[in-house]
Amino acid sequence: MKKVLITGTVLVMMSLHSIYGQKFGDLAAIPPMGWNSWNKFGCEINETIIREVADAMASSGLRDAGYNFLVIDDCWQTGRDSNGTVLADPKRFPSGMKKLGEYIHSKGLKFGIYSDAGTATCQGRPGSRGYEFQDARTYASWGADYLKYDWCAHGKQNAEASYTIMRDALYKAGRPMVYSICEWGTNKPWEWGKDIGHLWRATEDIINCFDCKNYWGGLGVLQIIDLMADLGNYAGPGHWNDADMLEVGNGVLTFPEERLHLSMWAMFSSPLMAGNDIRNMSKETISILTNPEVISVDQDKLGISAIRWMKYGDLEIWFKPLDGGDFAFCLINRGKETVPFDQDLKTTIKKVYTIDDSFIVRDLWKHLVIGTTKENLKGILEPHDVILVRLQRSNAAGK
Ligand code: GLA
Repeated sequence: MKKVLITGTVLVMMSLHSIYGQKFGDLAAIPPMGWNSWNKFGCEINETIIREVADAMASSGLRDAGYNFLVIDDCWQTGRDSNGTVLADPKRFPSGMKKLGEYIHSKGLKFGIYSDAGTATCQGRPGSRGYEFQDARTYASWGADYLKYDWCAHGKQNAEASYTIMRDALYKAGRPMVYSICEWGTNKPWEWGKDIGHLWRATEDIINCFDCKNYWGGLGVLQIIDLMADLGNYAGPGHWNDADMLEVGNGVLTFPEERLHLSMWAMFSSPLMAGNDIRNMSKETISILTNPEVISVDQDKLGISAIRWMKYGDLEIWFKPLDGGDFAFCLINRGKETVPFDQDLKTTIKKVYTIDDSFIVRDLWKHLVIGTTKENLKGILEPHDVILVRLQRSNAAGK
């Protein structure tokens, strides 16, 4: 009898481990795409803005281009009730999160929410520390599909353990949610995040500039590219290095800089979270954000991150293998002067992969075939400009 009981206990423990000790598996086979409120609105969010953004995601073509998560970042929460249940700000979100989630879903979008592994969020709102299972149940009851989980007010908490608790809580709550680890690369989440979350921020926060760094750690586009450069091997289907939300359409970057920004995020297979006011977008912003050929580089199912192949002064050449034997090449000019380029892409491929084939070269921003790899790719790059090409085995647009 005793023996049977012990066996039963062991079995229960084993099954608890298998219930909690995993994340939702297939939710991010390709990098998640969507929109997040933080870059544009910060704490100035409310239900009207979120509903209008949901409308605009559907009507502008963003949703159909793949941006399907609408993530409400910090400042939606004000406190907890006497049972510890987290409360949305009743002034800003009078209909409540469940109703708002239903509205987001009614637009064919998925609903993302934000919290923090510490006792408070980065804006001093209630964090989930000590309330992980309760909060996960609350988000699930609201129909959330995505959780961004930040790292402020963490005291002496261990990052891996803290993120694991929320992973287990989400799993226990039973509603599949993409789980976004946002601890800024401080504890090298690429080394432990794969079985915990679906994506992890690799750097501190993006700021709206091309080449700059803030004293508190805010980083421009180039600074993030440099930090992402060596992390490629850690990412792949289901677990992505997150280069942070996009600054496309936020009024500071020039169009070439915005194209470079999106191109490199795509080369890294980073999640693509628009961060602009998509209720009021120019035609140029829409066409940059929704470029299907660039998005297809990001969403490529192999999920291989780009390698920085060459650097000559301000000119850098990156490449990335794609599904079906294609390759993406991205040439960027980091500097303020024009730079000439004259590249034998065929020999590069041969050196790295011992593949001696010829390819069609398609410019993914011009949407044109510009030659084949039988000739060198030649030209001049304007300051902060980019050329993104796909070496194709067949001449199909928007692959
Ligand atoms: C941190 C995160 C940002 C944003 C803010 C909100 O800085 O890294 O992406 O969520 O908190 O307070």
